[in-house]
Amino acid sequence: MTLLRDIKAIQRNDPAARSIEFLLYSGFHAILIHRFTHLLWKCKIPLIPRLLSQIARFLTGIEIHPGAKIGKGFFIDHGMGVVIGETTEIGDDCVLFHNVTLGGTGKHKGKRHPTIGKNVMIGTGAILLGPIKVGNNVRIGANTFILMQDVPDNTTVVGTPGKIVKMNGKSVSIKLPPSKVRQTNAAKRNRLYPLDSRMEL
Ligand SMILES: CC(C)(COP(=O)(O)OP(=O)(O)OC[C@H]1O[C@@H](n2cnc3c(N)ncnc32)[C@H](O)[C@@H]1OP(=O)(O)O)[C@@H](O)C(=O)NCCC(=O)NCCS
Repeated sequence: MTLLRDIKAIQRNDPAARSIEFLLYSGFHAILIHRFTHLLWKCKIPLIPRLLSQIARFLTGIEIHPGAKIGKGFFIDHGMGVVIGETTEIGDDCVLFHNVTLGGTGKHKGKRHPTIGKNVMIGTGAILLGPIKVGNNVRIGANTFILMQDVPDNTTVVGTPGKIVKMNGKSVSIKLPPSKVRQTNAAKRNRLYPLDSRMEL
């Protein structure tokens, strides 16, 4: 069922994919291998899932860590240069273009990669870093950069740094809110070192 949804996603998103041409897509090869490596990962089999994902990377140019959770109907168009980190979560019906990075900042432990909602399109070259949350029905423009900021539902985000240019179909210009993790850390810092005491230092 999941694979069927992946195939339909290719045909829905790329008019060039006629009949069985989906078999030629490197994005399809990468997700096919990932569905298998993720299964091995969940069974806690050592080394083999990482080995297979590295072989897939060599063959497709797409690096998906076996730990990443990816929903049904997933499509990577063109593919080359895509990086999807270990604790990434991606909802159903998402599309990624080449050179997208769903990565960590290097500062977080445990959950350190983005969580992407359903029906999200991420344009070529976009870089999303940290344990951030991207809502449902979001479009992220080519070359957008998002660092430790959450993206609300039903929005289009573009630019470096990314900002919201459309919300519920209407043009807007809104800064992205800091991610929940960043807000929680700031609140903790404020509790430990209230602003007044920090000014005295
Ligand atoms: C963002 C995108 C999805 C369009 O989404 P949309 O909701 O239809 O938004 P719009 O096209 O109405 O654009 C809204 C505004 O953002 C601007 N914009 C769109 N994409 C942008 C981008 N990548 N970077 C900077 N600004 C961008 C538009 O110029 C427009 O600005 P304006 O209101 O001042 O005219 C599309 O522009 C995009 O970047 N797609 C990526 C596709 C891709 O990677 N293709 C690779 C094929 S090989």
